[in-house]
Amino acid sequence: MTDICTHLDRDDRVKLGAYYTPDDLVARVHDLIAPYVGRAGARSVVFDPAAGYGAFVQGLNGEVRAADIDDGAVARLREVLPVDAVFHGNSLREPTRARYRIGEADTLIVVGNPPYNDTTSEFRNGRKGRNEADADLQDRDLGVSFLRSYARLRADVVCVLHPLSYLIKRTNFRRLKEFAAHYRLRRGLLFSSAHFGQTGGTKFPVVIALYERGAGMDYEDVRTFDFEVLESGGTFRLDAFTTTDGLINKYPPRKQGPRESDLGLYYYTFRDINSLLRNAGFMAAPHDNGIVVLRREFHRYAYLHAFKRFFAPADAWLYGNLSPLVKPAWLEAHRRELVAFALQDHPVLVKAAEMRASIAADYGVDLRAAVKPAVRERLRDGIMRLAVGGAACPQAAQAR
Ligand SMILES: C[S@@+](CC[C@H](N)C(=O)[O-])C[C@H]1O[C@@H](n2cnc3c(N)ncnc32)[C@H](O)[C@@H]1O
Repeated sequence: MTDICTHLDRDDRVKLGAYYTPDDLVARVHDLIAPYVGRAGARSVVFDPAAGYGAFVQGLNGEVRAADIDDGAVARLREVLPVDAVFHGNSLREPTRARYRIGEADTLIVVGNPPYNDTTSEFRNGRKGRNEADADLQDRDLGVSFLRSYARLRADVVCVLHPLSYLIKRTNFRRLKEFAAHYRLRRGLLFSSAHFGQTGGTKFPVVIALYERGAGMDYEDVRTFDFEVLESGGTFRLDAFTTTDGLINKYPPRKQGPRESDLGLYYYTFRDINSLLRNAGFMAAPHDNGIVVLRREFHRYAYLHAFKRFFAPADAWLYGNLSPLVKPAWLEAHRRELVAFALQDHPVLVKAAEMRASIAADYGVDLRAAVKPAVRERLRDGIMRLAVGGAACPQAAQAR
């Protein structure tokens, strides 16, 4: 089975989220669902409601169903599956078991790689996929709509690929409400979006998630869940990391908080590590996307600058959706070095001679001497160590 969607041009691929899944990932899904297929007592049906060329439902024993909105994909599906197992249409409109000839008593196993328009993907450029869905399934992200549709079908088992951010970002997790009320994560295998080959832009973590219907889950369950990292064989557990949330503002002031900086200094807003690394840092004038940097908090933004410069682990994709990592005690202990480094390294600060001198005076930093290579190394090392926790070595994370 090819994982290149050949019948669509690039634009239509983006619109439909038609990035077909490589065989090795499909095989993982097959392994995960194997214990549920043909389980004693019930007929099982494996269904992919966004099937593309049908990678997930081919080669399986027993009943399968496949649906897709795209004519070209459906034509290919009809070549490889029994005609009455293939359905053409929008899977987010009135999904019912009857529509797909799935019995109420059947064990329904939903599989696949539904389309998603994560804001870090190409959809960021404003090109939205077809986002028509029943009112209660509607979400700005198609993938979230698909997860809701599985709950509507009362799938017994769900084993699909989706961005990890659906689970680990608290605001996203809330949008899964109906799904999370009935499904519990059993396994979560992580890989980089780079594995899809065709998607451009910033890499982000994707999960092969196995959910069982029954007891639901809450955000705390996600925080303490041991995800398995496919490439490294390590684990990734959210509560092993501390982030700058609560310590450093990520957004410009809304109703509360000072609107002007007593330094005349602002920092470009960032949602997560990926956007921090991508966006500008310090700005010397107010800006719609500018976080207000207060004099007494300058060292924290100096920390962000160092983080931006030095955080580059081989598995950076894994952390992309998290807020910047930090060990607050380390930040405090290194505040002067962080300040000296930012003042000498960031072009906006280097240019603002007066502001720079006054900040240096606040922190007792001598700007006449360049930051020593040994100090840079110490900062780099401290920041790179933050990443050692999750993927490679769970013990180290706990020893934080
Ligand atoms: C990421 S591809 C996955 C294809 C296939 N499951 C695979 O992994 O190789 C997503 C598929 O969803 C289809 N799709 C997008 N929106 C849909 C909708 N509302 N209803 C049904 N299929 C849809 C696209 O045409 C595309 O084939």
